[in-house]
Amino acid sequence: MLGQLPEGFTALITGAGGGIGAAVVDALLASPRPGRVIAVSRQPISRNDGRFEGLALDLATPEGRAALAHHLDGRPLHLLFNAIGLLHDEAQGIHPEKRLDDLDPQALAHLFEINATLPAMLLQALQPALKGSHPALVASLSARVGSIGDNRLGGWYGYRASKAAHNMLMKTAAVELRRLNPGLRVVCLHPGTTATGLSRPFQARVPEDKLFSPAFVAERLLAVLGERTPEESGSFYDWAGEPVAW
Ligand SMILES: NC(=O)c1ccc[n+]([C@@H]2O[C@H](COP(=O)([O-])OP(=O)(O)OC[C@H]3O[C@@H](n4cnc5c(N)ncnc54)[C@H](OP(=O)(O)O)[C@@H]3O)[C@@H](O)[C@H]2O)c1
Repeated sequence: MLGQLPEGFTALITGAGGGIGAAVVDALLASPRPGRVIAVSRQPISRNDGRFEGLALDLATPEGRAALAHHLDGRPLHLLFNAIGLLHDEAQGIHPEKRLDDLDPQALAHLFEINATLPAMLLQALQPALKGSHPALVASLSARVGSIGDNRLGGWYGYRASKAAHNMLMKTAAVELRRLNPGLRVVCLHPGTTATGLSRPFQARVPEDKLFSPAFVAERLLAVLGERTPEESGSFYDWAGEPVAW
């Protein structure tokens, strides 16, 4: 697993309480290679493994990001796997929009905050641990519907647009971070439709063989990530290892 990273590498998973994030934590702990698996969620989470460090932080806040940076203390981070994302939020009345009439500025702003701004601010906070000369992988979960080139169906304005913004922020950060660490690869990943809380309201219309388990997706995404070279930093891949159009 992730053969380009050193034995005993340090991994950080954000959104570790979510369906895919939790499965990535488990996939990493199933391998003897990571030395530290730091998992951040808004809720306390635990695993029965001495390499596991669970942090209950809200990374949407400057305080949460500062606490995470303090925990890492500038020591080299080899893997950042960001699994944070938002499609719907009943409590806040956020649902994927079907038509222009459904657009709501507050809902759009919140989707942009969680799907685009938060991942970029996370990279800002983690710069001291990412820069240097150590091999490092940054994966941030996107979605194929965030591809502008692939948008034929329309709808889901806020989610699509916030994921497109996410992709541009990650691509731009990849260009800058290459100068701070030539061994760093930043990759946007599309997991495919996965059986989690995020996709639950839409699963009925997904054929059974197209609805993946979080464990399958975690294994696939780590494999796809592990195939990326430094020259491929700032790219967008799906779970099958195929590039996705921006
Ligand atoms: N499931 C799919 O079919 C699918 C398809 C394409 C793309 N994706 C993308 O894959 C990623 C993971 O999604 P998932 O399916 O695992 O969904 P999920 O189970 O809903 O997990 C998403 C996680 O994002 C974090 N999050 C959500 N709202 C937040 C907020 N307001 N503030 C801070 N953190 C927040 C939470 O992490 P904590 O609970 O740890 O705080 C949450 O558990 C997302 O970026 C999603 O867009 C999923």
